[in-house]
Amino acid sequence: MVSICSLGIAQQQTTNPYTGPFRPQIHFSPKAHWMNDPNGMVYFNHTYHLFFQYYPGGTVWGPMHWGHAISKDLVHWQELPIALYPDSLGYIFSGSAVVDSNNTSGFWKNGKIPLVAIFTHHDPNGERAGTNNFQNESIAYSLDEGRTWTKYIGNPVLKNPGIRDFRDPKVMWYAKGKKWIMTLATKDHITFYSSPDLKAWTKESEFGKEMGVHSGVWECPDLFSLKLNGKQYWVLIVNLNPGGPNGGSATAYFVGHFDGKQFVPADHGIKWLDYGPDEYAGITWSNTGARKIFLGWMSNWNYATQVPTATWRSAMTIPRELKLFINNGNILLASTPVKELGELKQRTFTTGNIEINKRHSFNAPGSTSAGQYVIDLQTNSLNDFALELANGGNEKLIIGFNKKANQYFIDRTNAGIHDFNKDFARIFTAPRLSENRSVKLTLVVDRASVELFADGGATVMTCIFFPEKPLNKVAIVPDSTIHIKSLSIAELKSIW
Ligand code: FRU
Repeated sequence: MVSICSLGIAQQQTTNPYTGPFRPQIHFSPKAHWMNDPNGMVYFNHTYHLFFQYYPGGTVWGPMHWGHAISKDLVHWQELPIALYPDSLGYIFSGSAVVDSNNTSGFWKNGKIPLVAIFTHHDPNGERAGTNNFQNESIAYSLDEGRTWTKYIGNPVLKNPGIRDFRDPKVMWYAKGKKWIMTLATKDHITFYSSPDLKAWTKESEFGKEMGVHSGVWECPDLFSLKLNGKQYWVLIVNLNPGGPNGGSATAYFVGHFDGKQFVPADHGIKWLDYGPDEYAGITWSNTGARKIFLGWMSNWNYATQVPTATWRSAMTIPRELKLFINNGNILLASTPVKELGELKQRTFTTGNIEINKRHSFNAPGSTSAGQYVIDLQTNSLNDFALELANGGNEKLIIGFNKKANQYFIDRTNAGIHDFNKDFARIFTAPRLSENRSVKLTLVVDRASVELFADGGATVMTCIFFPEKPLNKVAIVPDSTIHIKSLSIAELKSIW
């Protein structure tokens, strides 16, 4: 006779959590329950760690933990047990992780290099009581590759001076000054702190009170350097909510200089890392050397808790590589999908050197049937056109270029379920930031998301949608005539 217990185990082993409606096939999503911001992203011993804001008690936001996933290649992910649990100091809000190779913290044991996590302790009691110092910064360390963590006995290491929004520490080693720099979101601007040991923090400066968007709070910042033509620049990422270019939460950035004390922007304009509605809280991995890899949460606080998934909520974007480039005299950030994504490419349909003057469907052989694929398109002209991703039913997502407005757009008004939120079904636009006389697009399409990288990643848009069936039929709809230099549609293997 089979016992109920052994049946339970058998059932657990055969149920694949990564199937079912809207489940991403090439993006990380938690097996079950609620997820928001990426946290503690660090590369250590040939492994990329991705921690994340996680509520294991349901599919809406709740007392925050740090979930944990790892990857060897930024493409395939394995979810591990929860890394950090709430405690008497509060919930575990967003933060970062560093490799303390020089043992500045003194957390080394038996020659084992510690990973140190720096995060916000959010005290819900203090918040309820109406105090304004309920968010404080704390640390924890791990000597076993992030599997288990010890919270520092002297927490919190940075006490709140009386600012209600005082959170999301991103820490990096500033080699020139031999000190750690913490970039902290403080209400609607940034405060920089420094420390020799990750435990004692000194305020260095503030930035941003008179710059950027101030309609809401600044959250999840990041500071790192990148080179352009041999010259070093500093990029300050700021996530803000609301105030995004297409409504709600979004990721902005400044490019400038940092001297270990102060950040000075090269210009005062606001720049957007992703113009779409559905990339937020994005930051970069630490300890990756000169290569800067970015990843964001693929949702928007306007409707994140309402999207129609049943047992889990939300996914992360594809990891993206960041580079600086110049457009019209401004130094901007371009993002492109990490090259490792190419590992997933299967059957690929290609064509090129064709002129199209009316709607044309591409019968990519067997490809795209599962609903996850990459489209690469390059034109030889700058005329209006749209790409339609459809499912043979009534649902379609339209992505296109509008020459007169010099804009890209994504139209999800007809792309599936949208009645969960009145603002979901909309058309989103983004400026074209290229001086080239041709359009170059890469679209990464998954079961319920599209990421548009235009003109080498100069304009990026992330957009989620919820169609009844996968949008696996691709058509081009030109306004007049477009000359296609090359087009490829590559089916992608599921990562699960
Ligand atoms: C951003 C954010 C962070 C905070 C976390 C809480 O999405 O609001 O500022 O630390 O989410 O889950």
